Amino acid sequence: MSDEKLYIVLMGLPARGKSTLAGRLRDAFLKDGIPTRIFNNGKLRRTYLPLQETASSEFYSPENSVAMALRERFARINMERAKAYLRNSGLVAILDANNARRKRRAIIEKQLDDHPILYIECINDDEYILNLIIQEKVKLPEFSHLKDKAVKEFLKRIDYYKMIYVPLKVERNYLRIDSLQNMIIEEKHSDAIPFYDRLRDYLVTDEVKNLFLIRHTETEDNVENRIGGDSKITAKGKMQATALGAFFKNKKISYIFTSAKIRTIDTARAISAMQDDCRIISLKEFDEINAGICERMTYEEIERKLPQVFKKRGADKYHYVYPEGESYETMKHRITQGIKKSFFLNQQAKNIMIVGHQAVNRMILSLFLYRREDDVPYIYVPQDRFYHIVSSHYKKLFELKRYD
Ligand code: F6P
Repeated sequence: MSDEKLYIVLMGLPARGKSTLAGRLRDAFLKDGIPTRIFNNGKLRRTYLPLQETASSEFYSPENSVAMALRERFARINMERAKAYLRNSGLVAILDANNARRKRRAIIEKQLDDHPILYIECINDDEYILNLIIQEKVKLPEFSHLKDKAVKEFLKRIDYYKMIYVPLKVERNYLRIDSLQNMIIEEKHSDAIPFYDRLRDYLVTDEVKNLFLIRHTETEDNVENRIGGDSKITAKGKMQATALGAFFKNKKISYIFTSAKIRTIDTARAISAMQDDCRIISLKEFDEINAGICERMTYEEIERKLPQVFKKRGADKYHYVYPEGESYETMKHRITQGIKKSFFLNQQAKNIMIVGHQAVNRMILSLFLYRREDDVPYIYVPQDRFYHIVSSHYKKLFELKRYD
C-alpha cells in the first residue's frame, strides 16, 4: 500500500456541512500544490436522474430498493473515478456523500484498497442552524415543484438517513468533527495518513475570505450618549445606512448577520434593500454588552449616581462585570459562538457581513487581530467606517474603510 496518496471519505447526515468542508479542504490542498478532487454522489445523481424525482423524500427511503440500487451505483461510479484519479496525477480524492451505512463503507474499503482512507464524520445538531440551512437548500431548483412541502420533504429525507445511520467506530482511520465549531471531537488512526498534520490544521482553522464588519449607524440613544437599550436609528442613521447600501451594491452579500437589536437590523435592511437576494439573520449572540443596572444611562449619570461602578470599570474595563450585566470577558464566548454560526451559514460565499455594536465589534476584531485584553475595550469602532478583514493561512488583511 502506497502511503503518499489519500482518500478522504466524508460522512454525516444531510445538511451537516459536508460539501462546504469538502470545498474548504480541496481549496486548501490546492493552494499547497497538492492535486485534489471532489467526487460528489449528489452531483452525479442530479446529472443522471430527473431532478424532481430525487428531491422527493421517498427516493431516500430504506424501503425503496430501486432508488437504493441507483444510489449505490452512483457511489460505485465515484469510487472508480476517485481510484482512477489517484492512479494518475491526483494525490487526494475526497468522496462527498452521506455514507451513513456501515455496509456502504465496507464497500468503499474493499474498492479503494490501494491507499489509506481517512473518514471525516460531520456532526451538528444545532436545531436553529439546521433549520436555516434547510431553508436555503430548498431554494435549489430541484425543490421548486414541492413548493411549501419542500422543507417537510427534506426533513423526512434526514429522518430516513437517521434510520440507517451508524457513526464511525470500527473504521481504521477517522476524525469526528463538530462542523459548526470546527472542532475535532474524536480521532483515531491506525495507518500512516499522508498530509495528516496539515489536514488537521485546515479543519480547525476559521478561514475568513472577506468579512465586512460594520457598526450600526447613529441611533437616538447615541445622540443622547445613552448606552445599551434598543433604540431606532435616527434620520442621519438612515442616511448612513443608505450610504452603506450604495457602497456594497456591487458586492454580492448573501447574508447579513446582525444582533437581535433594532438598530443593527435597521442598518442591515438598508444594505439588503440594494442587494439581489440577501437575507438578514439576527443572532442574539451579537447583542451589545449588557450594561445591567446601567442600561440606558449616560456615562456622566453613571459617574454621578454609581461612582463605584464607574471607577471599577475604568480600572479594569475588560474584566469588569456590570451589576446584573456582562463584561467584555463574559461576552467573549457568546460572540465566538455567533461567529461560528455565521461562518457556518455563510458556507462558501466570498463575502460575509456582520452588523454589530461597539463592544461586540471590538471583541470580533480581537478574535482575528491579536490584541492584549486590556486594549480590547478601547479598539476604535466608528460609525462612519467599517472594517474589512481577510484572514487565512496565506493572507491577513485588516483595513478600516470609509463608505461614503
Ligand atoms: O455607546 C454605545 C455602546 O454600544 C453601548 O451600548 C455600550 O454599552 C458601549 O457602546 C460599549 O462601549 P464601552 O465598553 O466603551 O462602554
